[in-house]
Amino acid sequence: MSLGRKMLQQVLRVSGRSAGPLLRGVDRWVDSLGSRQVEDSRVKTLKEMPGPSVLGFVWDLFAKRGLSRLHQLQLEGRKKYGSMWKASFGPILTVHVAEPELIEQVLRQEGQHPMRSDLSSWKDYRNFRGHGYGLLTAEGEEWQSVRSLLGKHMLRPKAVEAYDSTLNSVVTDLITKLGHRRQQHPDGVINDIAGEFYRFGLEGISSVLFESRIGCLDPIIPEETEQFIQSINTMFVMTLLTMAMPAWLHRLFPKPWQTFCQCWDYMFQFAKGHIDQRLKEEKEKLASGEEVQGRYLTYFLSRAGMPMKSVYSNVTELLLAGVDTISSTLSWSLYELSRHPEVQSSLRAEVLRVMGDRRVPTASDVASMPLMKAVVKEIHRLYPVIPGNARVITDRSIKVGGYLIPKNTLITLCHYATSRDPAQFSDPDSFVPQRWLNRDEGNHPYASVPFGVGKRSCIGRRIAELELYLALSRILIHFDVKPDPEGGVVNPMTRTLLVPEREINLQFIQR
Ligand code: HEM
Repeated sequence: MSLGRKMLQQVLRVSGRSAGPLLRGVDRWVDSLGSRQVEDSRVKTLKEMPGPSVLGFVWDLFAKRGLSRLHQLQLEGRKKYGSMWKASFGPILTVHVAEPELIEQVLRQEGQHPMRSDLSSWKDYRNFRGHGYGLLTAEGEEWQSVRSLLGKHMLRPKAVEAYDSTLNSVVTDLITKLGHRRQQHPDGVINDIAGEFYRFGLEGISSVLFESRIGCLDPIIPEETEQFIQSINTMFVMTLLTMAMPAWLHRLFPKPWQTFCQCWDYMFQFAKGHIDQRLKEEKEKLASGEEVQGRYLTYFLSRAGMPMKSVYSNVTELLLAGVDTISSTLSWSLYELSRHPEVQSSLRAEVLRVMGDRRVPTASDVASMPLMKAVVKEIHRLYPVIPGNARVITDRSIKVGGYLIPKNTLITLCHYATSRDPAQFSDPDSFVPQRWLNRDEGNHPYASVPFGVGKRSCIGRRIAELELYLALSRILIHFDVKPDPEGGVVNPMTRTLLVPEREINLQFIQR
């Protein structure tokens, strides 16, 4: 944050006036100074940008378990090279950007149809098998048209609120499941809580996509569900490896690419099976004269005249996007709440106060739970599900932080580094949700952006937040959550997404 902005905030705080309009004016003035400075000074080239040698980068990536420590490498990189550095290996040349102001500069120049990454092995797989692209992988006009269609059903608050009873029925099953699981242990400990939340995530997103249940939270879990979740996990492990390996290495060491393809094959097959089944049921109803009133996403996609190939790929990608993201956030939330019982009781008190004598919250209940939102924000700051995102600007070179970045360069946005930056957040490694309630810290708005920003940001954000708030409210009403007496500290690791490095075990005490 600029010095001018900080000083003005201080003065206005003392005088008790609203800082918003004035600060925006100051920001514009400071920005214009900044851009004049950039224009005045010589623009540097990538050659002048610091960064590790190819050998050093390869060593970091492969010899030091770097792929699972990519989030840590962001911190190390920033310490060694400052807020921007380049790294290259095989087909990859990437510029790391680890300062919120600079991330903002990149995202403000991302253009009409932002591209996340053009190196994606995800795209290679789709081309290889002749599958379509979904929203995660599509580009250009194709991406734009699916985004507009899905946006109507996933981004509008009213459309999302309509999913609350569907999601609540999934939460009811989760509570029952947690109750059973805790009874299987003498101290009520549930081992590997993330495993339970994977199934919850998959059931939740399936209920939104198909408006029907697929049994992930049943006492006996369908084999295909476990295999789907396992395929996602392995595919994420293989993603970074297959991206880091040049194509010719795939021939020499075929295993990673083969495993990666098998995982995707399974996921596509799983999604197709459920879509075909759902559409068949509908056809039968129509044939027997019954009225069909679908309110589920697959219905909207198929009714919009989208080719079935695109319906399959979009549903596959939405299913995938709704599993680890939800599971990680819930696991870390309960992990931190169990270690901060005072926050846990304040949050429970907030939930009970808002709900009065009801026990099942609605979308409008959770909208008036500021501490709940602060807890989830803080979890995303500490454990951003996507620790490093990316952009490729294809139509022109852009200026960022005084450097000219040629078009088609892969730009890595180091969100983990910015959200753990002491210059942005005091005591950055501690869980302090209150920091989001009294916004004195004045961190840069791009310092923690867990769902991304702008046109290509997370389309599932509203559904995810609703699902998280509904689940956390009910879990806290039913259970006191404590750390496993035998458990210790759990650190995060990168598996494309940021996930717990080992099992999180928690004690659930029935309330
Ligand atoms: C805690 C939960 C979640 C987090 C933190 C999260 C985070 C993100 C982030 C950071 C991106 C990339 C944004 C960018 O590149 O600027 C993204 C994209 C996306 N997310 Fe999520 N996500 C979550 C849950 C979900 C859920 C539940 C769904 C599905 C219902 C979903 C569907 C998607 C899709 C389809 C995209 C690609 C959007 C596009 O390219 O236009 N996400 N998400």
